[in-house]
Amino acid sequence: MVSLPEVTIRLATGVDIARLAPIDAATEAQFVEAGHPEFAGSGTISDADAAAAIERGHLWVAEVDGEVHGWLVLTRTGDELCVGQVAVSPEVQGLGAGTRLMDAAFERAYRDGEPSMVLSTQSDVAWNQPWYERLGFGVVPEAEWTPAMQAETKAQQREGLDWNTRVHMRIDLAETGG
Ligand SMILES: CC(C)(COP(=O)(O)OP(=O)(O)OC[C@H]1O[C@@H](n2cnc3c(N)ncnc32)[C@H](O)[C@@H]1OP(=O)(O)O)[C@@H](O)C(=O)NCCC(=O)NCCS
Repeated sequence: MVSLPEVTIRLATGVDIARLAPIDAATEAQFVEAGHPEFAGSGTISDADAAAAIERGHLWVAEVDGEVHGWLVLTRTGDELCVGQVAVSPEVQGLGAGTRLMDAAFERAYRDGEPSMVLSTQSDVAWNQPWYERLGFGVVPEAEWTPAMQAETKAQQREGLDWNTRVHMRIDLAETGG
């Protein structure tokens, strides 16, 4: 009998920090293949930011068969909780690790009484906007961007990201229950 890989989600600790960048780097090739060369070498969370997120309890890792293969960090965009980054190694995508990481983030947000969660992502990539829509996020129309979203857009444009194919998204946690 073939056994399915076992996915476990847990809060990250200091020893996990060194695993974050290689996972992120492995996913960059997928964006390049999808027509976004600007993601090649685009960088990842700094060790200092990862340590701070661990301190806040806002960084999770996904283990697949006991090895760290994915991670998610929560940050803030203005006052709002934000999915700063989520990444799962290409060789173990599609096993539910990404969804389970998001579930851990939602659980924490509900526990803290956060009214919403936001993120920015690609609108033209199958595993970005459509994936978040299935999780309950909706696109924030440009006319409704918060000052923090506007500032983030400008910062990402300075880093070379093309906002013709990016969107801000939000989920209203008060509405979705918890
Ligand atoms: C987005 C991401 C974290 C999802 O992780 P995951 O562990 O594959 O997520 P799940 O297994 O819970 O969900 C998989 C679903 O996502 C979609 N998906 C994932 N990878 C995909 C791909 N390469 N092409 C098309 N759809 C894809 C599919 O709908 C899939 O559902 P299915 O397995 O029923 O077909 C992962 O694809 C990833 O790390 N991508 C690169 C980094 C990234 O885009 N991060 C988000 C930036 S905002």
